Amino acid sequence: MTGPIDAITAMHNAFRKDMEGIDAAALGAARGQPGLEAALERFRFCNEVLVVHAHGEEIAVFPAVEAVAPLVAEAYEKDHRGLDAAFDALNEAVSAGDALATARATAAFKFHLDVHLYKEDTHLYRIFKERIPVPDQGKAVGIMAAEMPPERQPEFIAWLFPLIGDDDRENMLRILQMVSPPEAFAGVAQLVKRAVGDDWAELTRRIPELPA
Ligand SMILES: [Fe+2]
Repeated sequence: MTGPIDAITAMHNAFRKDMEGIDAAALGAARGQPGLEAALERFRFCNEVLVVHAHGEEIAVFPAVEAVAPLVAEAYEKDHRGLDAAFDALNEAVSAGDALATARATAAFKFHLDVHLYKEDTHLYRIFKERIPVPDQGKAVGIMAAEMPPERQPEFIAWLFPLIGDDDRENMLRILQMVSPPEAFAGVAQLVKRAVGDDWAELTRRIPELPA
């Protein structure tokens, strides 16, 4: 059964995957490989989504965790400020056109992001899942989702779905279906269909009510 927390898992997997590609591009560029600019430039949108996601956690998830496990979330908020600093360092290196500094910055960003997401998945969200009733989990995830401005949704879907596997795609679609009015979900489904190309067939197999 898909639960609210599955949306978080899907997002975390997308961040990991995108950062893996960004870091690989930065390393390749530092070694003199041409044509990696677009792959590296993904760091901007990735970070935009990361900032929205982290802010959503701070206003919805962390206060909920604070109520059932005092003093835990504070450490994660500090991690988030570390992610902000990692982005600033990367942005500076890219602006300076320094390929070596850029590769060092993506490696540091990726390392911190991976450790942070691992801690959230296995510790913070374990507490969230074990100690918070599912309807309240849903409320928190709903507040997070509302942080993404509706006009950015097409870009967001075009970013998210190619980065994640079929299980995460299915979970995300089911959650979007639960929280969206039918007309809005029809639009979302079309955007996802465009984003995943031929993989749409697998999603319609898993969720038969999706349009062909
Ligand atoms: Fe986080």
